[in-house]
Amino acid sequence: MSINTRHLLPVCSLLLMIPALADAQEEQSSVTRGEYIYHLGGCASCHTNGKEGGAPLAGGLEMETPFGTFYTPNITPDPQYGIGNWSEDDFIRAMTEGVSPEGEHYYPAFPYTSYTKMSQQDLLDLKTFLDLQAPVAKPSKEHDLPFPLNQRFVLGVWKWLNFESGSFQINQHRNDRWNRGAYIVNGPGHCVECHTPRNIMGGLDTDAGMTGNDNGPEGEAVPGLQSSNHSEFSKWEIEDITFSLETGMKPDGDFLGGSMGHVIDNTTSKMTPADLEAIAEYLKSLN
Ligand code: HEC
Ligand code: HEC
Repeated sequence: MSINTRHLLPVCSLLLMIPALADAQEEQSSVTRGEYIYHLGGCASCHTNGKEGGAPLAGGLEMETPFGTFYTPNITPDPQYGIGNWSEDDFIRAMTEGVSPEGEHYYPAFPYTSYTKMSQQDLLDLKTFLDLQAPVAKPSKEHDLPFPLNQRFVLGVWKWLNFESGSFQINQHRNDRWNRGAYIVNGPGHCVECHTPRNIMGGLDTDAGMTGNDNGPEGEAVPGLQSSNHSEFSKWEIEDITFSLETGMKPDGDFLGGSMGHVIDNTTSKMTPADLEAIAEYLKSLN
């Protein structure tokens, strides 16, 4: 049998293309995973100014807190006004250490206090997704905070007292589903940020994890999500929890509202059934 080189050539170039194709596929799945992480993280709840019809992720949402008024920054890939120039390391450091590329501390109104638990892979996928969003050339607005809180170095002390960086640690005594739920609630989903009470400095009172917060965002009361305290919630079954997170409807037919409404729209309604069940299993285990 004679080998015709004319036919071999296309075969060779096809073989050469396979690694490139695999790269493109990997890139695509990183984007898809990143988009899901973006929903888990609820980035749009704060960085898109839905109230005033702002462009996605261009910031400007006003956040009233007992410590002053924050305006969320622009996190689109705009190189000047957004985070388009950031390296992977810059992004990971901001999300897990609460430190900017210039080395300044971030305020915990940015829930890096939970995002610090996110895995490296989730953060890299999230960045891949964010890098592909539309850049918006709009400057971020200065926060409106009283002295001395407007001095970022003060945050060094706050972090020393109230913040521990470090990724999520698997609990070997629990199954994968429970661990997945614990990861979402305490990490990307940052459910603890509203459902856990805060100390006088605004730090999370982790000893009272998920017992509710009478003075949550915008001063609204946030219910506890423990199962031991004879609350209405303690009677919810797994299916009640997953259904209410998916649709916003409680077992009694009422709808969840306030800041939880944004969490449902931007986060839990976009979760897979498996992740909703993982959250429910984890919540049912809290005492
Ligand atoms: C609860 C509201 C809230 C949520 C949710 C939130 N952020 Fe933010 N974020 C903020 C605030 C407020 C700041 C400004 C912090 C500061 O100035 O110290 C900020 C700052 C940032 C910064 C630093 C920007 C800069 O210019 O230095 C990045 C990056 C960022 N957020 C990314 C994200 C990503 C990614 C998500 C989703 C996984 C997210 N944020 C979710 C409130 C939020
Ligand atoms: C921005 C603050 C905030 C965040 C973040 C948040 N919640 Fe909530 N959550 C609330 C508020 C406020 C309510 C009460 C809403 C109402 O009664 O209309 C609530 C209610 C709930 C309820 C119903 C409990 C009951 O007894 O009625 C569940 C379940 C719940 N949240 C789960 C979660 C989960 C899971 C997450 C994380 C993915 C989460 N929440 C993140 C503020 C928040």
